Amino acid sequence: MSDKASINLDGTSYDLPVIVGTENEKAVDISKLRDLSGFITLDPGYKNTGATKSAITFLDGEKGILRYRGYPIEQLAEKSTFLEVAYLLIYGELPKKEVLEKFRADIKKQMMIHEDMKNFFAGFPSKSHPMGQLSCLVGALSAFYPESLNPNLTDEEEDQTIINLLAKMPTIVSWIQKKSLGHPVVYPKNNLGYIDNFLNMLFGEVNDEKTFDPVVIDAMHKLLILHADHEQNCSTSTVRIVGSSNANLYASVASGINALWGPLHGGANQAVIEMLEAIKNDGGDAEKYLAKAKDKNDPFRLMGFGHRVYKNYDPRAKIMQQMCHKVLKETGHANDPLLPIALELEKIALNDPYFIERKLYPNVDFYSGITLKAMGFPTSMFTVLFAVARTVGWISQWSEMIQDPQQKIGRPRQLFSGATTRDYVDISKRK
Ligand code: CMC
Repeated sequence: MSDKASINLDGTSYDLPVIVGTENEKAVDISKLRDLSGFITLDPGYKNTGATKSAITFLDGEKGILRYRGYPIEQLAEKSTFLEVAYLLIYGELPKKEVLEKFRADIKKQMMIHEDMKNFFAGFPSKSHPMGQLSCLVGALSAFYPESLNPNLTDEEEDQTIINLLAKMPTIVSWIQKKSLGHPVVYPKNNLGYIDNFLNMLFGEVNDEKTFDPVVIDAMHKLLILHADHEQNCSTSTVRIVGSSNANLYASVASGINALWGPLHGGANQAVIEMLEAIKNDGGDAEKYLAKAKDKNDPFRLMGFGHRVYKNYDPRAKIMQQMCHKVLKETGHANDPLLPIALELEKIALNDPYFIERKLYPNVDFYSGITLKAMGFPTSMFTVLFAVARTVGWISQWSEMIQDPQQKIGRPRQLFSGATTRDYVDISKRK
């Protein structure tokens, strides 16, 4: 294959370098295009635009492949734990036993949050959405750790900031849940690991440490592993662009949380349950909702279906579906009326020409909502759980970016389509 692409613009031919990735994906390097020709490229939604090189996550949407640092998602979900995957994504390699133990211990030491942060929790109205609270609270961490504001962190300071954020996320999230229920918060405990602590702070009581079904603990690890990174999606690109201005990690991740909130992205897990509830309350007619999703005059979309990159079954959805059945059985929710509606919707959509032609398959969020509901989470907490997992991806991508010597501030161009120059009109003469 040629290592150059030729482009003819206004009668002049330009040679642009072709770059090939380690999985043989090909890209035309247009970084000099405007300097050479005066032209820019236009790509709404960045459907064809690679914003960065990255060595973290590989995704082949046509084949339904997802790998973190080369390891297939199926193997990681089956054999690994969330913190081990976090280490892998952030530092690039699976940790040796003693390294992983130190990583876990360092995180455990930092799980407590500053007592003054309780004032923030007290300030939110009880019905405020947990995602809005989460972005405020993560942004507020920068106030308690002002050293993180330095854009030239040493490796040690960067590690400390990363550990801090990973450690405090479960505490912040579980306190948001407790506060929304009007219950006293539960502090992290030294005798518990990351996931056990998280579950205990979410569902335990102040003086009553709770033990959890191994199926629920396993589901929590898997859920977090499956959502941990997904290369340059909307929230991760947001984190990178905010971080590219040298904003600190907490501020960058707070922006990612806001991007994740939308129902076309992470908010889909909440939207799926709301959709299934609506179908159930409307008589359970899945066909009717499939017809609505296909109707171009109806804004309704089948939530949990379709993906910008996957044009095949989302490999995370397969694992999630199996896990969903297991959790429902184990937690006594096997008769959840939403499950048969989801299965029916999936079956008819996968056989419908509209969905087949557009290659629309269930995505990771289609079954995660039902699973989280069975685990006891309020619907409004679903996307927050996604954020806990994706924090690992955001950190990995931010860290890769700030260590890249070629990194530049993110600043897209535009094609101006407004009025050309005109003279100011006095208010008395305006038509
Ligand atoms: N229901 C009905 N039609 C759909 C759907 C859907 N869920 N998704 C896409 N389409 C149609 C769309 O109308 C369009 O049809 P046409 O070509 O006739 O105009 C075609 O499929 C292509 O859709 P698009 O909107 O151009 O595709 P996109 O890549 O811009 O959007 C998406 C991707 C995920 C936003 C979209 O599929 C969607 O809205 N899905 C529902 C929300 C959802 O489940 N989001 C979670 C994504 S997975 C979690 C994550 O990582 O964020």
